[in-house]
Amino acid sequence: MVHGPLATVDPEIHQAIVAERQRQNQGLELIASENFVSRAVLEATGSVLTNKYAEGYPGRRYYGGCENVDTVERLARSRARKLFGAEHANVQPHSGSSANMAVYFSALQPGDKLMGMELSSGGHLTHGHPLSYSGRDFEVVAYGVDRDSERIDYDAVARLARQERPKMIVAGASAYSREIDFERFRAIADEVEALLMVDMAHIAGLVAAGIHPSPVPHADYVTSTTHKTLRGPRSGLILCRKVHRAAVNRAVFPGLQGGPLMHVIAAKAVAFKEALSPSFVEYQKQLVANARRLANGLADRGLRIVSGGTDNHLLLVDVTSIGLTGKVAEEALEAAGITANKNTIPYDENPPMIASGVRLGTAALTTREMGEAQMDSIGEMIFEVLKAPESESVQRAIRGRVEELCAEFPLYDWQ
Ligand SMILES: Cc1ncc(COP(=O)(O)O)c(C=O)c1O
Repeated sequence: MVHGPLATVDPEIHQAIVAERQRQNQGLELIASENFVSRAVLEATGSVLTNKYAEGYPGRRYYGGCENVDTVERLARSRARKLFGAEHANVQPHSGSSANMAVYFSALQPGDKLMGMELSSGGHLTHGHPLSYSGRDFEVVAYGVDRDSERIDYDAVARLARQERPKMIVAGASAYSREIDFERFRAIADEVEALLMVDMAHIAGLVAAGIHPSPVPHADYVTSTTHKTLRGPRSGLILCRKVHRAAVNRAVFPGLQGGPLMHVIAAKAVAFKEALSPSFVEYQKQLVANARRLANGLADRGLRIVSGGTDNHLLLVDVTSIGLTGKVAEEALEAAGITANKNTIPYDENPPMIASGVRLGTAALTTREMGEAQMDSIGEMIFEVLKAPESESVQRAIRGRVEELCAEFPLYDWQ
């Protein structure tokens, strides 16, 4: 057996990890779907639980030796239920995409009608996009946002639902900066006798902290990733009403997955415990305040913010308002040490690989304890870079400022 440390056993991978840690430490991370997990979450993710096979559920496994992983999974489930006030939690989905797939497979037949938000309005691929399984296996009808307000037009959603009578309606998004009215979605679903699934992947942390209204009382199923605002390991989660428990569990295992990733389930349990603490509520309040401040700073400098602002952790900047594309903006920012992603905006005329927008999120920087004062500087730096996207000297100068700022807010400095 190989016993040496990673640096000796595999220097190439070790070096890539060291370099990535440095990249995370020295750059400004504004990708809205990313965050920095705690040391405790990292430890659980890198634990010996990765060795254990545990097909099945606690108390009903297909393998021996599951007493410890049963403890882990029971804790993860009960903490998830407590955190979100849910009747049932399945903590085994490997990712947000597989959580969504499990819900669809538990309740729909191939060819059934699924109604979700279209990608260019902020929806996710797994809400029915033709390139995803969800667009291939189901008949999809997509709703969008209103062209003027760039917000969900609930009357239009209701009209479409009446006309199409989907079997399931999906609410939730990857690039939508406004509060979502889940109660209204419930009323629409009830009117057409559809099931309602809410994918709260982006806003799960805000929901846990009570800052965004919870979908749990309204939806038949709530899915989530655990690694965005919720600040856990890269993974998925399903919450549902008790009546759906057996079907959801069967869809996850044996329907879609084999052995659960017990090390990741342990890390989810840790993240849920962290999210139950009062400091997590403060963190969520701060990240929303930060997003608002950043949006205001950019708007004051003449950049158009999609829908006029934000209610959550993210904002979409329409960079065509200063003559750029999302691709050019993303590349210029990257060269200056600011990481963000190009993103289509509603009714975008550019294809997704070019895009007219940039999506910015404050979850990761708020974890570093940056506040509104830092958001002011970051808004200014972003504007400086975008004003001269070709200028290497501007990028160099801003990169220097970025590194100085990051040095004041160290990350993972305990090793
Ligand atoms: C709303 C939403 N659902 C699902 C997912 C998919 O999660 P994963 O990348 O873990 O499959 C994402 C990821 O960005 C998302 O934004």
